[in-house]
Amino acid sequence: MTLTATTEQTATAANAAGTSAAGRKKVIRIAMNGITGRMGYRQHLLRSILPLRETGLTLEDGTRVAIEPILVGRNEAKVRELAELHNVEHWTTDLDEVIADTTVDVVFDASMTSLRAATLKKAMANGKHIFTEKPTAETLEEAIELARIGRDAGITAGVVHDKLYLPGLVKLRRLVDEGFFGRILSIRGEFGYWVFEGDHQSAQRPSWNYRKEDGGGMTTDMFCHWNYVLEGIIGKVKSVNAKTATHIPTRWDETGREYNATADDAAYGIFELETPDGDAVVGQINSSWAVRVYRDELVEFQIDGTHGSAVAGLNKCVAQQRAHTPKPVWNPDLPVTESFRAQWQEVPANAELDNGFKLQWEEFLRDVVAGREHRFGLLSAARGVQLAELGLQSSAERRTLDIPEIEL
Ligand SMILES: NC(=O)c1ccc[n+]([C@@H]2O[C@H](COP(=O)([O-])OP(=O)(O)OC[C@H]3O[C@@H](n4cnc5c(N)ncnc54)[C@H](O)[C@@H]3O)[C@@H](O)[C@H]2O)c1
Repeated sequence: MTLTATTEQTATAANAAGTSAAGRKKVIRIAMNGITGRMGYRQHLLRSILPLRETGLTLEDGTRVAIEPILVGRNEAKVRELAELHNVEHWTTDLDEVIADTTVDVVFDASMTSLRAATLKKAMANGKHIFTEKPTAETLEEAIELARIGRDAGITAGVVHDKLYLPGLVKLRRLVDEGFFGRILSIRGEFGYWVFEGDHQSAQRPSWNYRKEDGGGMTTDMFCHWNYVLEGIIGKVKSVNAKTATHIPTRWDETGREYNATADDAAYGIFELETPDGDAVVGQINSSWAVRVYRDELVEFQIDGTHGSAVAGLNKCVAQQRAHTPKPVWNPDLPVTESFRAQWQEVPANAELDNGFKLQWEEFLRDVVAGREHRFGLLSAARGVQLAELGLQSSAERRTLDIPEIEL
């Protein structure tokens, strides 16, 4: 199942890559489903695949591979318009046909969550490599089934783990690797912003996100991110205790119609974590679409350790060493005289950090060409779905739940 970057190439259903006139240059054809949506269009098409189409993908040995997107969507007018706007030669409204097309190497999905598992199953059954938005499925059972199918099909599967590629979290992870924190004690995260109800001002997120029956909900949406963020920065997530809420029960959809918000729009979670060295760390993340931002970024994580602390957003990361830690004394009678924010130092990137989605796409496509596993695949995604499911269960049952290891 390897796309070799040489002139000798065997075409199979899974690796039928074309050879350009340049001889060595290969083409990866990517069927992109859901590109009329927010994520599919902005992050995947506009920020990732179109720029990659311009530059080609550079492999570890310097070989260039050409990228050829095929736009896929239900609405012919919309898909054609996008294809024309961005000068994309190939587009279709027939998802099944493109999945069956032996010249297509990768099937990408950023469509509605509730449609995802069926698309991915079909694509893998046709020997396609897959790259997909999260969550991979609505239920853990289905997410595990997908992971098994992916393993048995021998294809390369990638699931969006974009937060780990963001400059802020890359810097935070580097501090962990360099031992900056000493013994890590806790990680806390604050995510969210005000999502308008849609009556007087239109909502800035699609309405399905607020309907449980359409696959919406904060826990379902964000806990799969938090699982890989916690795993990727700290270590294993061992337990969850969550309280979910539907703070805004009535919203207005894209057509101005009032609807019942049946899904949770906030989730307050506490997680027991374990570092690779076996240390216990407490994690706590608040996620809400009914909160106003008094932060520097829409998501921020703070790690506290015995030797230092750091706060990272999507882009920026600041840190404070033990030696620079002030000694505040609690006295409500006196006004604060020092600026606590000024006591932190910015952590430099020391590198060009590109768009997170694009970086993961490049890594994934290199893995496809090399015929190897992508480090963020369907099993990691299943653990994300598991955390979301157990988070919802924990809230419903008002108790802490241990997280069992998933066996494929
Ligand atoms: N990685 C991230 O940070 C992130 C952020 C937001 C959303 N997402 C995920 O991306 C996916 C898409 O979310 P979005 O916010 O872009 O949603 P969206 O509503 O903007 O886009 C959904 C896409 O699915 C298509 N679609 C909708 N209903 C359909 C139907 N019945 N049949 C076929 N196609 C249909 C739409 O035309 C559109 O192309 C979701 O799975 C979501 O969980 C990921």
